Amino acid sequence: MALDFSKVLIAPSVLAADFANLGAQVRAVEAAGADWIHLDVMDGQFVDNISFGPAFCAAVRKQVAIPTDIHLMIERPDHYLERFLPNANNVTVHVEAQHDVANTLRRIREAGRQAGLSLRPGTPFEAVEPFLDQIDLLLVMTVEPGFGGQPFLPGMVGKIEAAAAVRARRGLAFHIQVDGGIDAPQASLCVASGANVLVAGTSVFGKPDYAQAIRALR
Ligand code: DX5
Ligand code: ZN
Repeated sequence: MALDFSKVLIAPSVLAADFANLGAQVRAVEAAGADWIHLDVMDGQFVDNISFGPAFCAAVRKQVAIPTDIHLMIERPDHYLERFLPNANNVTVHVEAQHDVANTLRRIREAGRQAGLSLRPGTPFEAVEPFLDQIDLLLVMTVEPGFGGQPFLPGMVGKIEAAAAVRARRGLAFHIQVDGGIDAPQASLCVASGANVLVAGTSVFGKPDYAQAIRALR
């Protein structure tokens, strides 16, 4: 499927939303122009936090028409994959987690979903290179996964540039997504470096006007 990298996509992260008003919150960001809804699943093992699971993702799926972009920050994405697939358009797994990465990516695609691969700030770009021809999305973490509201790590810009260069050189097709500490200044830096999908938690849900916040990012 031809992927269009020229359009900047905004994926608000519901980790920063008001869980007590979840339906209204995701409907509001959809109405405000969000392209995807980013769902940060955390198991308390792979990251030092626990967020939500399959039932929460199913609840969000029912509220919006835009794609659900599930980011599995869990140690065993292979074990839980079947429970997330029905409510996902994209499923992103971590290269550092305890699974057969290629096999998990294959299973996501076989289910007709976009397969994403993510790496922590401390993981070198080389760790994901073997898989770049098996993904639709590379998620470069620009904060240490586990919590929203952290400051952007500028040292990650080199990874974004490396991903864009390899993609061009090898004629591959995958979105380059950044996640963590992304507000307007970081958005322009990341897009200039090659990213085209921006995860935004605090910079959208933390603002009074979601449409204005999304426009500022774009
Ligand atoms: C962190 C999550 C990010 C985070 C982004 O582990 O993966 O998606 O929620 O939140 P902000 O945009 O507030 O840094
Ligand atoms: Zn995320």
